[in-house]
Parts: sequence; C-alpha cells; structure tokens
Amino acid sequence: MRIDVVTIFPDYLAPLGLSLPGKARDKGLLDLEVHDLRRWTSDRHRTVDDTPYGGGAGMVMKPEPWGQALEAVARGATIVFTTPSGEPFTQALAHELSEQEHLVFACGRYEGIDQRVIEHAATLGTVREVSLGDYVLNGGEVAAMAITESVVRLLPGFMGNAESLVEESHADGLLEYPVYTKPASWKGRDVPEVLLSGDHARIAAWRRAQAERRTAARRPDLLPPTGVVGALADL
Ligand code: ADE
Repeated sequence: MRIDVVTIFPDYLAPLGLSLPGKARDKGLLDLEVHDLRRWTSDRHRTVDDTPYGGGAGMVMKPEPWGQALEAVARGATIVFTTPSGEPFTQALAHELSEQEHLVFACGRYEGIDQRVIEHAATLGTVREVSLGDYVLNGGEVAAMAITESVVRLLPGFMGNAESLVEESHADGLLEYPVYTKPASWKGRDVPEVLLSGDHARIAAWRRAQAERRTAARRPDLLPPTGVVGALADL
C-alpha cells in the first residue's frame, strides 16, 4: 500500500515512522511519504489560508496549493479529507481503506479547506471525508495518524498472529471481553475460575457473555435494537 499525507505540519507526522506503520514499512508492506503543503505555494510568505467569503471567524485553507498538491500526489487514489464534519471512522471503514492500493490524507487546519478543493479532488480520485469522532481537534493530522495506524495493522502479512484481529473489540460488532494473565491471584483478586478450567466451550461462552454485558453497559448503540426479533415473530 502507498500512503501520502499532505499537511502544513509534516513534523507532526514523524511518529508514523515508528511503531506499527514503521514496522509495516520495514516489512515492505507500506510506502509512506509526508508532504509539506507549503511546497505548493508560490508567494513569498507561502500562504495557505485566507479569510472566509461571507464573513465569520477564523481562516479557510486556500484552494490553489491544495489543487496543485493533489494533482501531484493523488491521481487515482482514495483521498481522505480528515474533518469533524465527515462520516464517522469505524473498524468497517478501516477494513475498506485497507483494501485500497493508494491512500492520500489531506489534513485540514483552521476552519477547513475551500469546498472547491473537495470537488476537484473527486475528479482526481475517490473522495472520503472522515471524522475521528464527535469532537474538534486543531487539525486533521492526529486523525490521519489514527486512521493510518488502524488501517496498516489490517494489511495482510502485518500481524504476526492474525487471530488477534478476529478476537479484538469491534471485530464482531461487540466490545472485547476482559482479559487476564499470570499470576492467577494478585492482590487478593483471582482470575475467573472458568479461564483456568481448560474447557474451551465454557470459556468461549463466558467470553461471549462478558462481551455482550460490557457492550450493553458501555455502548448500547452497537447492539441490535431490542424487540426486533420479537416484533418479527409477531408478524
Ligand atoms: N479535524 C478536526 N477535528 C477532527 C475530527 N474530529 N476528525 C477528523 N479531523 C478533524
């Protein structure tokens, strides 16, 4: 997979060279390049923003540098604009993005990027506007890093143990069950007996029940609406 990131803070993205994405690069699974948007400015001050038409607070990112940047690096790519007004990022979207050959992250700052850039980008590649969550960051860089990390670990050949992808939170639509390791007793707290039983069916049933309980308590929105099955049975 090829990933290009366009940002006005290339140093901010340095951690992508470490940790998981760094490992993917070492394994030859990922070719990643970070670009400074100001490279595509032409004025003495390397200006990337201006005041918004229609008035209002803050600054808007100018179209010209973005147009040139995307024409240079994003033809044929899936172009991800990280923005709080995008579709929510989910594990399903991580899987979808992990199947693409070429991703380009366009990291907006200030009040956002001139809308015509997004329209132009759609003539160069496939556009996705993606939000990390319902809160506002100072810019799209942290979102691009988070999305990159979750996508890269799904690349075939990245995970030493592919089973851990099957078991983890969100893989089956539920939060993951609690996990334990040695010692069996610590500060007077014992590991649940079932996990020491060696009875794989009982362990699987216990884990499933724990995952459902945890999901119901913390993320009831992830569970199917209650009553659906009963309502269907009544038909
Ligand atoms: N930029 C600022 N806030 C953001 C968010 N929540 N998600 C993605 N990009 C952002």
